[in-house]
Amino acid sequence: MKLNNVTRLLLCATLVIFAATSCVKEGPMGLTGPAGKDGTNGKDGKDANETCKMCHNPTKVDLIAVQFQFSKHEYGEAAFEEAGNTGCTPCHAQEAFKDVVKRNVSSGFTLNPTTGRYTLDYATTADKAFGELGCSTCHSSIHATYGSSDLPSLTTVAPVPMVMLGGKKIIDLKADGGKSNLCVKCHQPRPQTNLQTGNAQDWVAIAANPTGIAYDANANSATTNIIRPSYRMHIHYGAVGGIYAGMGGVEFAGSLPYTNSTHTTVASCIDCHMGADAGKSNLVGRAGGHTFFAKGNLTTCNAAGCHTTAVTSASTTLWATPRAEIKKLLNDLAAKLSVGGVDIMNRNANTNEALGGVNLWAGLTTNNYDGYLNVYDVTLNNPNLGSAIYGNTTGPFQNPSPGSTWTAEQKAFNLTLPKLSLTNAQYGAIINFQLCLRDYSLGIHNYAYTKALLTNSIAKL
Ligand code: HEC
Ligand code: HEC
Ligand code: HEC
Ligand code: HEC
Ligand code: HEC
Repeated sequence: MKLNNVTRLLLCATLVIFAATSCVKEGPMGLTGPAGKDGTNGKDGKDANETCKMCHNPTKVDLIAVQFQFSKHEYGEAAFEEAGNTGCTPCHAQEAFKDVVKRNVSSGFTLNPTTGRYTLDYATTADKAFGELGCSTCHSSIHATYGSSDLPSLTTVAPVPMVMLGGKKIIDLKADGGKSNLCVKCHQPRPQTNLQTGNAQDWVAIAANPTGIAYDANANSATTNIIRPSYRMHIHYGAVGGIYAGMGGVEFAGSLPYTNSTHTTVASCIDCHMGADAGKSNLVGRAGGHTFFAKGNLTTCNAAGCHTTAVTSASTTLWATPRAEIKKLLNDLAAKLSVGGVDIMNRNANTNEALGGVNLWAGLTTNNYDGYLNVYDVTLNNPNLGSAIYGNTTGPFQNPSPGSTWTAEQKAFNLTLPKLSLTNAQYGAIINFQLCLRDYSLGIHNYAYTKALLTNSIAKL
């Protein structure tokens, strides 16, 4: 309300009169005074909504979150299955992964003076052994400042001491600022432990002595043998990291040297697995971007000026020929890994999860090997469970360590089965077979190293 000067004066006089009389007797309440002058406008605040929109918009985080639904990191179930397990969760659960990175947990083995045996250090603590793999597994700074520096800001790109070798070799994939090291921290093979010491198996010694005995089925002792074969005598699933880097194989001397393909130094996992722009709109079917799948997407071969001719699944020199060659070598090695006409490697044609025992590598070999061993196990490899799970018609080998829960009948059946001894050559060749099969790519990741491991292993058998 605006008042002219005359009105102001009149109002002032009235106020003075009221003030003078008020000390005599409480009079009636006066009229409400005029409103004061409007204050100056406040300074404009920062619009929080704008910084949020930098990431929370339909082409960035919103889209990437949808792509991520197609990533096995999200829909895979291992994070739930392994929750609480301090040895498994460093690769299977978000909080455990962040914990081993933060504390820089060693990949070495330490001697326990009480038991006199070695144990692997690479583990989280019970209170951190949980969490589904999600955005902040790999992106360490989401919402740290709400600024653009919060993404991608990767949890780690540091070189990775190999768990399989007790940290004795270090993978450092330098292309693309070392971002592949993030992937390899989890996508790496796991150790085989020595039966006598509990320490990581010494592959150099095993490769140097191929005629030595790794397991003698007629002398089932833990003081002379270095391993006991079982269905799950394996290097786990993360073979890619070792093969890609050209490390972790049992390097028998042979006709081929252990060299690496060009990919090892010039390409990164992100180049081929995350599409051209690392997660925006270039999905090819279910592949690329934050699906992390390479399968079904060969457009990346021509990105970043890598291969100049377009690569398709029909390309010979860059796809069909090398893959057929590695597939043949896998078939040939599996054929050599047999005793008395019985396969050492397990066959499994089943890709249907509902039937149990899914083979992620079905189709990579003619007989659908899965890298496990054809050794009798009442729950994992039992002929009486039917051919859906048990695909090998030749029958399993005897299990040298029958389970304590097996029935007398199962134990008796086990004893009717043929025994399986292993030379160092056979043991090493099994490990190389698992690495090259479970690498998935039939030589695309590292053709030279894959071919050398398979060729030299075949020659040793
Ligand atoms: C640097 C990028 C970035 C900025 C800036 C950003 N966010 Fe986010 N925000 C993310 C990411 C990445 C996620 C995880 C998305 C997912 O899990 O699907 C997320 C998740 C969320 C969630 C889901 C709850 C959660 O924690 O998972 C909310 C709510 C959210 N943001 C709110 C905001 C608000 C409000 C702002 C602005 C004040 C903001 N964000 C700014 C990247 C960002
Ligand atoms: C925290 C550990 C971790 C990191 C880091 C990680 N992965 Fe994975 N990845 C896994 C696990 C565990 C699975 C399987 C999940 C399951 O089955 O539940 C997986 C699955 C995958 C698959 C699907 C494999 C299949 O069997 O079909 C691809 C492809 C993949 N990851 C690529 C990558 C790439 C590329 C990177 C780096 C940008 C990466 N991963 C980083 C742990 C990790
Ligand atoms: C060094 C990291 C690492 C450790 C430790 C590890 N895993 Fe894994 N595991 C992986 C990766 C990587 C994959 C997926 C690889 C792929 O599919 O290419 C995987 C896959 C699996 C799968 C297959 C999931 C599927 O989709 O079929 C199971 C089951 C599994 N792990 C169980 C375990 C258990 C149980 C332990 C502990 C005894 C364990 N893992 C420890 C890295 C690890
Ligand atoms: C397995 C690891 C991994 C997970 C899980 C992951 N990211 Fe990424 N993300 C990466 C890597 C590696 C890059 C960097 C790619 C590059 O440098 O080209 C990246 C890049 C990004 C970028 C930058 C892309 C661009 O082109 O600007 C955004 C945004 C992003 N991620 C969001 C997310 C969100 C949201 C989630 C969860 C829904 C998520 N990421 C989950 C590994 C991951
Ligand atoms: C030169 C391109 C290239 C690079 C680099 C590369 N990959 Fe692959 N990767 C492939 C191809 C091709 C396949 C097989 C796809 C198929 O069978 O059609 C594959 C398959 C895989 C698979 C099985 C699931 C899938 O996506 O098909 C995993 C897991 C994997 N790679 C992880 C990695 C990791 C981890 C790295 C980095 C250490 C890496 N790859 C680097 C091309 C690449």
